[in-house]
Amino acid sequence: MPGRNLISIADLSNNEIEQIFELADSAPKLRSDKAADGRIMATLFYEPSTRTRLSFESAMQRLGGSVISCSDMKASSTAKGETVADTAKVVSSYADVLVVRHYWDGAVQAMAEYADVPVINAGDGGHEHPSQTLCDLYTLKKEKGGLKGLTVVICGDLKNGRTIHSLVWALARFEANIVTLAANGMELPQYVLERLERDYGYSLAPVASGDLSAVVTETDALYLTPKQPHQLALFTEVDSVVQSRLNSMVSGLRYDAFYMTRKQKERMKEGTTGSSYPTIGAGFLREQRFKDTVVMHPLPRVDELSPEVDKDRRGIYFKQAAYGVPIRMALLKFLFDQGERKPLSGKQRPTRYESPERLAPQCPNANCITLKEPSSTRRRFDLLFTGAGGALILRCIYCDHRFKVQLVGHAKSKRYCAYDIALADTVKGWLRKKELAIFNSIKEAEELGYEPYKSGPQRTVMDEAEIHSAVEAMTRQILGDCSDLERLLILGIRTKGSLLAQRIGAEMERQQERKPEVGEIEIYSSGDELRRVSPADPEAGPMNLKDRTIILVDDVIYTGRTVKSALTIIFQSGRPQSVRLAVLIDRGHREVPVKPNYVGKNIPSSERERVRVKLREAEHDERDKVVIYSIISPAEA
Ligand code: NCD
Repeated sequence: MPGRNLISIADLSNNEIEQIFELADSAPKLRSDKAADGRIMATLFYEPSTRTRLSFESAMQRLGGSVISCSDMKASSTAKGETVADTAKVVSSYADVLVVRHYWDGAVQAMAEYADVPVINAGDGGHEHPSQTLCDLYTLKKEKGGLKGLTVVICGDLKNGRTIHSLVWALARFEANIVTLAANGMELPQYVLERLERDYGYSLAPVASGDLSAVVTETDALYLTPKQPHQLALFTEVDSVVQSRLNSMVSGLRYDAFYMTRKQKERMKEGTTGSSYPTIGAGFLREQRFKDTVVMHPLPRVDELSPEVDKDRRGIYFKQAAYGVPIRMALLKFLFDQGERKPLSGKQRPTRYESPERLAPQCPNANCITLKEPSSTRRRFDLLFTGAGGALILRCIYCDHRFKVQLVGHAKSKRYCAYDIALADTVKGWLRKKELAIFNSIKEAEELGYEPYKSGPQRTVMDEAEIHSAVEAMTRQILGDCSDLERLLILGIRTKGSLLAQRIGAEMERQQERKPEVGEIEIYSSGDELRRVSPADPEAGPMNLKDRTIILVDDVIYTGRTVKSALTIIFQSGRPQSVRLAVLIDRGHREVPVKPNYVGKNIPSSERERVRVKLREAEHDERDKVVIYSIISPAEA
């Protein structure tokens, strides 16, 4: 039996992390006790490493154990095409623990499934690096006395930095506050934010970043907090009242630590690595308010920390690296002591999903092991019923990326339909009986021999002329409120909201003879959530949201969760001057407090009903209309 692994920081409970810290405090004793006497560790590093590998190897030797290794994985059987599954299986019969670093997200999880001994993730692609997080937390605790209530500023490449992802989840669990200072275009990924929110109740609020950006250029600060103020992110208008509440909320903030990271060039597409990047230097050290702020870095650094910081007592990154040895001694001792025990309560397991059909849903992350080496994986997901707007979400168990389920099918009756919130209970029933099929496309469902379910009769509640005049009226109102067309950005939520945004843009051009910028936002994507639609200029670079007047457009507002997710993405990507919301239909029920500023039509409707906006562009041969119908559960159909 394999025993305990450390793949994600979520594999350890807070209590266990504290136990590991206590063991690290007694590292000299672990050394004299020869706590790993007679055991062998294998290190498999498919990516470069200095600290992680050497500190693991040093830790094992100090515990009286020994180490075997491939000095270069390119010189191993990998070069002959061996899968990670086979490598893990074979090497686990030579060693008592595997320490693995790989360039694919989720690769270490896949290897753990084939290994017969504990596996430790020493970094998997841009995903996680949990043992680094143990060093980081230990360092913070040593310097600051505890973790709860600390405010940690994470800075730099938050998108690709795997150390950051493990760290923010851990900080949230220990009830620390997090301020993000992302380099332009390198904000925290959606899957990281979603887990922060769903599992730990953390949300983003934009922060008046003047005091931070004075010393760290090229960034915009965001505040992640579990408590009350996060509701501020839901205000669709960041007006002066909200802004002053935000200011007072952060003006008293004591910054305990700055956690700086390197630009992860190796994870960026060629030609996209050149943008500006924040640095910390003399200016930071001079500021009175940072007099007790320690500067951390997982290392290696490139040029984001100036040499002055090395000489200052607050620059503690070499100490942080030195803690790597006692912490990894403690971790190894902890895992060996666990023997064949299974995780205690570490991960809360939502519903696990695996397709009963030969074609299964595909993770959208191009660097996920399930795409890179399908033969070493089984496409498995957590099924979450809590997505924005009641969406059904699949979370890849290897790389954590999430995506929205469009089509569900019943494997027994071979029927399929579009997923809708009203089907939640039916789908849960199918899942329990392992009869739930999920498809990537209609084509795939039909290929597997599925036929469509029928829905109840439809009633048209808005016709083409009415939709047209609603768009016209909303456009007039927006123009009336917006004095500065230069600042204006019409941003539609994909797909229908984006089409409506384009129509509003075209209508503005008709009324004013000026074309506003139009963009679209995708809630469930793995990176690149924002895209310019017009002017369609491939040279124009990324859309700039800072100081813009944004009109967020969607077709229907119901629970409000879609809008909330969109606002999170917007505030993450550069702080606009204001965000207002325009919807064609308001169904009049909310789970979160968002209020549209422009409404085409109010259509109060029940949970069992579905309001669908059909637009020519999306439905091909249809005319524009809004229909309402009841959901007949497939069980009744
Ligand atoms: C980090 C890594 O490999 O993710 N290094 C480390 O383990 N200390 C950070 C980095 O490479 O930037």
